[in-house]
Amino acid sequence: MASPKITVIGLGYLGATHAAAMAELGFEVLGLDVVPEKMRKLEQGQAPMFEPGLEELLRAHVAGVEGSTGRLRFTDSWEEVGAFGDVHFLCVNTPQKHGEFAADMSYVDRAVDSLAPHLHQPALVVGKSTVPVGSAERLAARIAELAPAGDEAELAWNPEFLRESFAVKDTLHPDRIVVGVGGPRGEGLLREVYARPIAEGTPFLVTDFPTAELVKTSANSFLATKISFINAMAEVCEAAGGDVVKLAEAIGHDDRIGRKFLRAGIGFGGGCLPKDIRAFMARAGELGASEALSFLREVDSINMRRRAQMVELARDALGGALLGKRIAVLGATFKPDSDDVRDSPALNVAGQLHLQGAQVTVYDPKGMENARAVFPTLGYADSALDAARGADVVLHLTEWSEFKELDPAGLGDVVATRHILDGRNTLDPALWRKAGWTFRALGRPTL
Ligand code: UGA
Repeated sequence: MASPKITVIGLGYLGATHAAAMAELGFEVLGLDVVPEKMRKLEQGQAPMFEPGLEELLRAHVAGVEGSTGRLRFTDSWEEVGAFGDVHFLCVNTPQKHGEFAADMSYVDRAVDSLAPHLHQPALVVGKSTVPVGSAERLAARIAELAPAGDEAELAWNPEFLRESFAVKDTLHPDRIVVGVGGPRGEGLLREVYARPIAEGTPFLVTDFPTAELVKTSANSFLATKISFINAMAEVCEAAGGDVVKLAEAIGHDDRIGRKFLRAGIGFGGGCLPKDIRAFMARAGELGASEALSFLREVDSINMRRRAQMVELARDALGGALLGKRIAVLGATFKPDSDDVRDSPALNVAGQLHLQGAQVTVYDPKGMENARAVFPTLGYADSALDAARGADVVLHLTEWSEFKELDPAGLGDVVATRHILDGRNTLDPALWRKAGWTFRALGRPTL
């Protein structure tokens, strides 16, 4: 049989990367997104967001780009998508609902309602979005109701575990593939699509719908819990005079605990962990299982307290008052090597300081445009050095490698006072102190 033809619906961090990766694996791919500007960029082989390696992959495969394979095309026609694809990946986002914990399923619902009436031939719809458990069963019923192909149009649930800033690598070399199946063809077709990773030894786990949906939300909850655990230890270290960085290293050597995701700081942000744990709590409540996840409320509060503690640390460094003080903020994105500022702890801290009267100047290597769009009233500078000019205190809030390489002496020449606060625990305190800086960090002793 010829290779299955693939469509990707929703071309954000997940979908754009998935579409490019599928083309890289050799499939003919058709992408659709409802945002025209995103499509225009993609059609020219440009990535709609900064993601290492993505633009290279797009240029290698987008039709019309010189020297490309031409395997990746885009359309705004649902009819064309329905007629083209054997396998349709749903990659639309499920943000937090405004003013509620629950996930907003309207993009997923609209995508299914737009696609299903055009499924005239046998097709597999594959959900990759992070959804409340129970959604797949509901969506399968909706497809059965709307698709002219009837039960030849099948749904599978295949959660995605990619990390932003490693999206290309994680998509081409996943550490596991999980497939919730709802019919006879899902497993076989997805084994064919993922043949290369499977051949490379990637575990392929087949489950029912609810388990597949829960694998994703429980994995993100575990990661969030691990971060909040170490941040809770940071709070205790602050009270007792301990050093959370040493503590994390020491407990992490126990391989039952592991060293990853034990970096204390201003906590987790982004478009996934914060909203996923909240949506999970909301769904558990609907299912009558809210007690099982009540600890996630604590995970969330610890996380938010770290942002507040960073603001307090800044206030303290400035002698108790923020009004009119000049603060340089290094980093705006929720993590390095990304331009994503969604629920970014760095931008949140910068915003809190600004709202309390400080003059905040932000610099970020890739997130400036997005940060400006979210928080236009903050000051922005074109480099770390420019942000730091005249500053009463410097805050390191996203651990970009260029900040690790900053020269403390050079930066010291432009600031008003040599005060630096490390919100990510990746700078070397000895180096900064040697250059005459007062160095403070979350969960670490003050010298
Ligand atoms: C997360 C998961 O790691 C992915 O597996 C998942 O697929 C993805 O969500 C998703 O649901 O789509 P991502 O949001 O890209 O990926 O970012 P992470 O690398 O998990 O980092 C999340 C936040 O935690 C960042 O703000 C980071 O700075 C923070 N973090 C991470 C810490 O504060 N300490 C750590 O030790 C690790």
